[in-house]
Amino acid sequence: MRTHYCANIDETHIGQEITVAGWVASRRDHGGVIFIDVRDNDQVVQLVCDPADDAVAHKMAEDVRDQFVIIATGIVRARGEGLANPNLKTGKIEIVVKNLIIENRSMPMPFELGDEKVNEEIRLRYRYLDLRSQKSHNIFKLRSKVTMSARNALDKMGFLEVETPILTKSTPEGARDYLVPSRVHNGDFYALPQSPQLFKQLLMVSGFDKYFQIAKCFRDEDLRADRQPEFTQIDVEMSFCNQEDVISVAENLLRAIFSENGFSVPQKFNRMKYNEAMERFGSDKPDMRYDLSMVDMIDIFDRCDNEIFTSIAKDKKHNRIKALRVPNGDNIFSKRQMKGFEDFVRKFGASGLGYFQMKEDGLKGPLTKFFKDEDLEAIVQRCNLSVGDVVFFGAGAKKVVLDYMGRFRIFLAEAMNIIPKDTFEFLWVTDFPMFEVEEGRTKAMHHPFTMPLLNDEGKLVYDDIEELSSVGYDIVLNGYEIGGGSIRIHKEQIQQEIFKILGIGEDEAKEKFGFLLDALKFGAPPHGGFAFGLDRLIMIMSGTSSIRDVIAFPKTQRVQCLLTQAPSSVDATQLNDLGLRLKKVLS
Ligand code: AMO
Repeated sequence: MRTHYCANIDETHIGQEITVAGWVASRRDHGGVIFIDVRDNDQVVQLVCDPADDAVAHKMAEDVRDQFVIIATGIVRARGEGLANPNLKTGKIEIVVKNLIIENRSMPMPFELGDEKVNEEIRLRYRYLDLRSQKSHNIFKLRSKVTMSARNALDKMGFLEVETPILTKSTPEGARDYLVPSRVHNGDFYALPQSPQLFKQLLMVSGFDKYFQIAKCFRDEDLRADRQPEFTQIDVEMSFCNQEDVISVAENLLRAIFSENGFSVPQKFNRMKYNEAMERFGSDKPDMRYDLSMVDMIDIFDRCDNEIFTSIAKDKKHNRIKALRVPNGDNIFSKRQMKGFEDFVRKFGASGLGYFQMKEDGLKGPLTKFFKDEDLEAIVQRCNLSVGDVVFFGAGAKKVVLDYMGRFRIFLAEAMNIIPKDTFEFLWVTDFPMFEVEEGRTKAMHHPFTMPLLNDEGKLVYDDIEELSSVGYDIVLNGYEIGGGSIRIHKEQIQQEIFKILGIGEDEAKEKFGFLLDALKFGAPPHGGFAFGLDRLIMIMSGTSSIRDVIAFPKTQRVQCLLTQAPSSVDATQLNDLGLRLKKVLS
């Protein structure tokens, strides 16, 4: 219907007749002459409807309103002296309309396109209109290009794209499953995959060597700004590999994704062991765009005269006393703000937040009286304090202290406005623990198919289950976990041992993962892999703060699609076919 996209029209077309088609972005009536900005998929061009040039087209233009769909034919001409718009790619030209068709009308828009202040619920209800904005078009173009780059890079590296089922059996990635009732087998359910984890491992047993998939995953978990119930992974698995091989594929893939789409990416990716990340940053996904790292203080506090601290300091295995130095904090923050910091950490289980101020004449603060002079000096040395600095302390159970001090670190960085924009800081976090124990229950930190660190004879030996490492790794970008993976267990006996530690009995293991355990008996090769969260990657690359912006039809925080009104009730016949009856909820 069109001869040109708006973006392709420039001064070389002056004098030519062309046809453009799109939506009316704006319409201005300047005393008889009507100017219309028409937008197609990513550019705007100005149409001029002058009754002196064409009375019919001008009459039609009087009817035109915002977001009408129009097709216009006319002659390209240079804009008048001083009338060029330098902000527009097509700003030096305009089209004098000879023929204008209103192809379709539009009701008044429920909101102005691209207006970020509009309530998100309204935007999601009319998501197809929200997606008409230039910001959305840019995001989805990037998403498409990134997916293409990923496919090409993996294809070049010899990976084969294989699709795996959506109607399947539960894969334990730590969230609740979405279940689909079976009509044919009343009372039985499929689970939607939390990831293609088990299938990609089976493909290794099939000898596929290198697999990938742009895979949809489904997890019923609490949603956050970087989490959706339905999201996409770039999922990769390979055989006869060690951790270095996998990391090298992941880095090549990231290099392709970033560099082919106009972003720079480091030649060398930094690495840090899980324990160091937790001890220094209180997080397994530290944001490395700024410093602010924690320092251990437990030995110094052990020597102080305050019983609360000394009793905490006695148990160095389970407790922590951590210091966070805020350069020049004394001049940046008021007393009131510092009091507010305590309220912040209390929300995450802190019983208080101590601090020292570095003044001209040494350390000051309510706690100094409990310390000998040489220990105050030791604090200054260890925290590397200069005049004007403030140092905050968290003391208590290891898990709690690391958590709230880690959150406090981010809170401070935001408050001090020290997080650089437009930089990408990647970090591999390696040597994840194999297990974590929560309320007496042992859980796999990655997933139960991750290879534990074995001894030289290939045996699983450990004193403390929580200190056993896995060959598991995550990749972090600007404080977001953008991917994770591991070397897998390929020997049935080790897999059985892990299930046993996790309290999964033989019968349960057979029932849930019998197919995998069987496959491991038929010549399973050593294998490993990873998955990137595509949505999170695009979110960071496009500089938006909500994952919903990068998913065409996302769910709200309350897991609803406001556009289609899903989830919704179904009729009695459907339920009957599925052998289901709803329990009446009495209000
Ligand atoms: P994992 O569970 O770490 O690993 O997931 C991999 C990556 O997927 C992204 N991600 C999500 N993105 C949006 N919404 C969610 N609800 C969500 N959950 C996860 C994250 C995460 O790093 N099977 C393993 C991979 C492997 O071992 O190969 C897995 O799924 O960016």
